[in-house]
Amino acid sequence: MPGKKIIAVVGATGAQGGGLVRAVTSDSNSGFTVRAVTRDINSGKAKELAKLGAEVVAANVDDPESLKRAFAGAYGAFCVTFFWDHFSPEKELAQATAMAQAAKHAGLQHVIWSTLEDTRKWVPLGDNRMPTLMGKYKVPHFDAKGEADKVFTGLGLPVTLLLTSFYWDNFIHFGMGPKKGPDGKLAFTLPMGDKKLPGIAAEDIGRCAYGIFKKEREYIGKTVGIAGEHLTGAQMAAALTRALGQEVRYNAVEPDVYRGFGFPGAEDLGNMFQFKRDFEQYFCGARNLDVARSLNPALQTFEKWLTANASRIPLG
Ligand SMILES: NC(=O)c1ccc[n+]([C@@H]2O[C@H](COP(=O)([O-])OP(=O)(O)OC[C@H]3O[C@@H](n4cnc5c(N)ncnc54)[C@H](OP(=O)(O)O)[C@@H]3O)[C@@H](O)[C@H]2O)c1
Repeated sequence: MPGKKIIAVVGATGAQGGGLVRAVTSDSNSGFTVRAVTRDINSGKAKELAKLGAEVVAANVDDPESLKRAFAGAYGAFCVTFFWDHFSPEKELAQATAMAQAAKHAGLQHVIWSTLEDTRKWVPLGDNRMPTLMGKYKVPHFDAKGEADKVFTGLGLPVTLLLTSFYWDNFIHFGMGPKKGPDGKLAFTLPMGDKKLPGIAAEDIGRCAYGIFKKEREYIGKTVGIAGEHLTGAQMAAALTRALGQEVRYNAVEPDVYRGFGFPGAEDLGNMFQFKRDFEQYFCGARNLDVARSLNPALQTFEKWLTANASRIPLG
C-alpha cells in the first residue's frame, strides 16, 4: 500500500509474530503494513495471514540471503528466534546474527529484537547455586538471546530490545497446566516459592511490539520489558480456581526437584525459574506493567486471559 511503512515480521505464523501481524492488520488506520515471514507460504497459517491482508514471503532464519530478501525495502523488522524447536543456544545466536546483518543490509529504520536476560551477568558460571548447562550457560534459552543483544547494538542498528515474559499460554501448549494428583485434585507445579512471576498473554507481546513501532523513535536504543501481571503461584492458583470452577492448587517445589523432572528442557527451565525467584525484584522491576499498558491499552490481566482461554487448558 503506497505511503505505508512495511514491518517484516519473523515468526509471523507463531505466537509473538502472529500477535504483531494481527495488531497491524486489524488497525484500519495503521500507517504500517506487514510482511509476514514464513518458511512455507502455502501453509494454512500463512494463508490465514494473507487473508488478513499481510504480504507473505518465504525466508528461513538459517538462510541469511533469504532474510536479506525478506527485509529489503522494509521500514522495520520484528526479530525472534525459536529455541524450543532445536534447543541450541549457538543456533539462536547464529540466527540472531543473520537477522541483525540482514537488517543492517536493508538499512532498516527500526528493529525490535525479542530478547531475554543473559543470566550469567547475575549468576556467573562459577556460581554453584544452579548448575552450568551445555558447558557455558546457566539458562541456555535466555543467555544466548541476551548475548545477541550486543550483535544488534554492535552493528549500530536502530534497535529496541524487548524483554518478554512467561506466556500464560504455556498452561495450554507447553504442558505446564494443572494436572490431577493422586488425591484427584488439580495442581500445577512451579519452583517459584512465594515469589512473583511476570506473565503475559502471548498475543499481547506482538501488540506491545506494534505499540513500540507506533511510538517511532521513542524506544530506539532502549530496552523495554513487558508483562501483563506479576503474580505469585498462589495468586495464579486462585485465579485458575475461579475460572475453572474447581479447586486448583499451586505445588511449589524446589528448583532442584524441577530440574530433575527429566522432560526435555527441564534443567533449563528449572534454572530459569530459579533465576526469576532469586532475582524477583530485578526481574519484575524490568517488566513494567504501566509501560506495557501504554504500548498496548488492551493488555490482558491473567483473569481476563482466563476468561477467554480457560476452556482451552487441558486438565490432565
Ligand atoms: N513460552 C514462553 O513462555 C516464552 C516466553 C518468552 C519468550 N519465549 C521465546 O519465544 C521464542 C519463540 O517465539 P514464539 O513463541 O512466537 O514461537 P512459535 O509460536 O513457536 O512460532 C514459531 C514460528 O516461527 C517460525 N519458524 C520456526 N523456525 C523457523 C526458521 N528456521 N526460519 C523462519 N521461521 C521459522 C515458524 O513458522 P513457519 O513454520 O511458518 O516457518 C513458527 O510458526 C522462543 O525462543 C522462546 O524462548 C517463550
